[in-house]
Amino acid sequence: MQKTLKKHGTWIGKWTFVLAATGSAVGLGNIWGFPYKAGTEGGAAFVLIYLLCIVAIGVPIMISEILIGRRSGNSPINAMKKSAIDSGASSLWQLVGWTGIIAGVLILSFYSVIAGICLNYIFIAASPNELITSSEQFGQVISSPTNLLIWHTVFMFLTLLIVSAGVEDGIGRMVKILMPLLGFLLLFMVIYGAINGAFLEALSFLFAPDFSNVGTDTFLSAMGQAFFSMSLGMGSIMAYGAYMPKEQEIVSTSFSVGSLDTLVAILAGLAIFPIIFAFNLEPGSGPGLVFVSLLSAFNQMEFGQLIGPIFFILLSIAALSSSISILEPGVAYLAEEEFLTRKQSAIVISILCWVIGIGTATGFNIFSVVDSSGESINPFLNTMELISVQILQPLGGMLIAIFIGWFMNESLIKNEIPQINPFLYSLWRFFIKYVAPLSVAFIFISQII
Ligand code: PHE
Repeated sequence: MQKTLKKHGTWIGKWTFVLAATGSAVGLGNIWGFPYKAGTEGGAAFVLIYLLCIVAIGVPIMISEILIGRRSGNSPINAMKKSAIDSGASSLWQLVGWTGIIAGVLILSFYSVIAGICLNYIFIAASPNELITSSEQFGQVISSPTNLLIWHTVFMFLTLLIVSAGVEDGIGRMVKILMPLLGFLLLFMVIYGAINGAFLEALSFLFAPDFSNVGTDTFLSAMGQAFFSMSLGMGSIMAYGAYMPKEQEIVSTSFSVGSLDTLVAILAGLAIFPIIFAFNLEPGSGPGLVFVSLLSAFNQMEFGQLIGPIFFILLSIAALSSSISILEPGVAYLAEEEFLTRKQSAIVISILCWVIGIGTATGFNIFSVVDSSGESINPFLNTMELISVQILQPLGGMLIAIFIGWFMNESLIKNEIPQINPFLYSLWRFFIKYVAPLSVAFIFISQII
């Protein structure tokens, strides 16, 4: 017998769910991760494969997560449990919710440190130090554990504040202000790049594919990026789905969120690469692309001291609307089981993320190691990413696809998407039963070997 669970709020207004889910999807993954991966993986060929992955894996899994979440109205653990019990399947499917919460805690621990660096850069870009290069500047920022910890604390605290305020007061209100602002700032940067940067060069880099250098790792990297960017496989979208009003259409909403997420990644590329090429910077410089290259561009350009901080405010806002969704599945679970109040749950999980984040903050300096090619790496960050992003997220996504494709009662599924066109439904069933789980399994296996 299942006990009655505490009810959460529902988002009011047609656009709130779309805004919140887009806020979750759009973050460091799009604006920091996508351009740097497009840069290192050779540009347009990567972009094309990425788009394919969004359509073939991302959108079908997003439909599934929203559907399971909305149907039960509970946090991912209980949503999976309820759907499994109602379908006559084992209640052990709730383990998918648990792995999601573990993944979320690990992701947020390092996400907050990187987002903290973005917050720090708002001020660095506003008053640049002309005596040092931007890569020396970046080195200085990450060499101080105290500095990283202070900004990590500030970012974690902001996340905690919003999440503890609850669904309607906190997240709902926040995204209504944040997302349009984000779109506005990004468009501004693209227009700036079109007028002042090497825009045509950027266009051909991003959209004229050269398949000569495409290997299996390009596919793997593009698939992984699609997964992380759409916030899938760890319960964030499922948790938000629980607050989606019943009359809203799941399938078209998933397409909207997927398109907006992709649009922002591409706009980020269009904002960043014209500047990179105009200043003869290296597009393949890796994870430091945003921090090192853009700062040097901002330092040289007219009004850079204004545009630079605007860019890093944009990045921090995007990171914040993602981080609140990473925290949500765990907080919603503890609150609905009434183990703790919503505020207490948010505090407990935030402290946990903050403590684990100390590893990433010190991994940049005290515990950094030098690899065989002489590059300095952060072993803690790499381990956290490996476990959460490369193992737990794909595993969670694959299990959700297998559950909804092979174990969940089809009449329960159809009840949630009554208006769906039969052809689209069969297409989705095919992708969720075969294409998505097999592709994710492929990513997973190739990461092991
Ligand atoms: N999608 C977010 C980004 O692109 C990160 C994220 C991952 C959010 C997992 C929620 C869950 O930055």
